[in-house]
Amino acid sequence: MNILVTGGAGFIGSHTVVALVEAGFTPVIVDDFSNSERLVLDGLEKILGRSVSCYEADCNDAAAMRDIFEREKPAGVIHFAAFKAVGESMAEPLKYYRNNLGSLITLLEIMQETGTPNLIFSSSATVYGQPEHLPVKEDSPAQPAMSVYGNTKRIGEEILRDVAAAGKPFKIISLRYFNPIGAHPSGLIGELPRGVPNNLVPFITQTAAGLRPQLSVFGDDYDTPDGTAIRDYIHVMDLAEAHVTAFQHLAARPETALYEAVNVGTGEGASVMQVIRSFEAASGQKLNFHISPRRPGDVEAVYADVGKAARELGWTARRSLHEALTDAWRWQCGLRKEDARI
Ligand code: UD1
Repeated sequence: MNILVTGGAGFIGSHTVVALVEAGFTPVIVDDFSNSERLVLDGLEKILGRSVSCYEADCNDAAAMRDIFEREKPAGVIHFAAFKAVGESMAEPLKYYRNNLGSLITLLEIMQETGTPNLIFSSSATVYGQPEHLPVKEDSPAQPAMSVYGNTKRIGEEILRDVAAAGKPFKIISLRYFNPIGAHPSGLIGELPRGVPNNLVPFITQTAAGLRPQLSVFGDDYDTPDGTAIRDYIHVMDLAEAHVTAFQHLAARPETALYEAVNVGTGEGASVMQVIRSFEAASGQKLNFHISPRRPGDVEAVYADVGKAARELGWTARRSLHEALTDAWRWQCGLRKEDARI
């Protein structure tokens, strides 16, 4: 069964391609390589022992996408393709609204035309802002977005909810990711941030590898046990497997129109200092870090209530923080300098 994976050469997309093949699906990647590299395809081929079909196309390009649907006749789509840099989104809002929402609408129109009902959408825990109650449940009220990027996820979810509520023949799940980290245990695919990483774990691994002088810990004056901010870090292979399970669940549901949003996290919060200490234990490296002021826009603590994923999808994260950091470090160590995009 063919499944279109937009953004399939990206971090979460590439790991999901592996999980799809392992579950017996045939992923077809659509990626414009605007923020991903072709070497990911080589890594996938080594892991899977065969190549994966890949189209170089922009999901905003309706003609190209129609052509791909016609040839591949996918049973559904897992839609990762989007811009995701929070800072850039504030400086270039139109670029983000056009790309992230334009591509979603184009995709939905073509799915409707071709009678392709099943869609998994990459959403984010960013839709919760700082929730009042932790762990955060899916029915927790959405907060005004802290960034344009976050707003594209919030609006994306609303578009999907509206389309399903109108009775259009769509079966859709938005997966609200918490903080994906780690890499495939082979060390052949992983996260490839371009330039200075915004996210904690790639910054840690690049610092330990000597590519950055020092990690800044953004704030140690939060109201948390050690003063540093708390997140729910999930191994990217657990997250990848959640997509496969969600897709199987969707395909099996009898309704013709449905929309659900589901948290994908571990249910456990870890502070920045706990991540640093866990990384040091996993890698055997001493990390050079200093405390700096809070990063504007950061929330104090957020971690998932994972009850809905367990109940409705039958999915639970299986891998530990230690395992995720071990895999992230293995990937970093195997990365050649010319491929590192630093
Ligand atoms: C960030 C984005 C979020 C996006 C997610 C995607 C912001 C404000 N939020 O989430 O919208 O969906 O990435 O993965 O950018 N930290 C440091 N030093 C660093 C980097 C991070 O101390 O150099 C801290 C942060 O303050 C935070 C934690 O590490 O407490 C995690 O940060 P990060 O990996 O950037 O993820 P989020 O901020 O949770």
